Amino acid sequence: MSFKIIILGSGRGSNAKAILEAEAKGQLGQVSTVAILSDKENAPILDLAQQFGKHAQCIPCNPKKARLHPDETTAFLEAIQTHKPDLVVLAGFMKIIDSHFIQSLDGKIINLHPSLLPSFPGINSIESAFNFPVKVTGCTVHWVIPEIDAGTIIDQKAVTIEANDTLESLTEKVHAAEHHLLPEVIRRLSTGEIPYQN
Ligand code: GAR
Repeated sequence: MSFKIIILGSGRGSNAKAILEAEAKGQLGQVSTVAILSDKENAPILDLAQQFGKHAQCIPCNPKKARLHPDETTAFLEAIQTHKPDLVVLAGFMKIIDSHFIQSLDGKIINLHPSLLPSFPGINSIESAFNFPVKVTGCTVHWVIPEIDAGTIIDQKAVTIEANDTLESLTEKVHAAEHHLLPEVIRRLSTGEIPYQN
């Protein structure tokens, strides 16, 4: 029995790559990525999906709006529900989704965020932590609720900010932590080691 996931992303897709590589190496057990969806037509994450032989689909969205329009939500939900996934993973998906989106998926949706929530929610979180400056930051995987970056925390990985770190070196460290954390959380959800909250 496979544990089907769909990844949503808007950009580079390095976290999707970490998931797909772990899956290809057999490190994720029953986890099977069935599709990668993006709101951006030329997002590298869509090329990546194709490289790994996964279904890739763009749902064109208004780039000027932070929130998905109800029609865009409907299009995403249709694309997602065709595959009947066990879990939807937001990995660098930069659109804000509404409660209808979340409820339609029975709350089976998680998000990756590049800080130790509840510190530094929103955008530019790595830069904000670096400039604050805090001594420890990291990344968080949490359940998605309508409030941004506020759902129940599933797991976190800390990253120490050293005196000689630059924003670039810190960004690399946070991304490296994400690439370990997210696939591992997905694996643990698939085995029931982490329970669903609903
Ligand atoms: C990741 O750092 C992720 O935490 C962040 O976007 C990046 C996507 O990188 N997500 C957010 O900021 C969501 N608010 P990727 O496209 O290389 O996986």
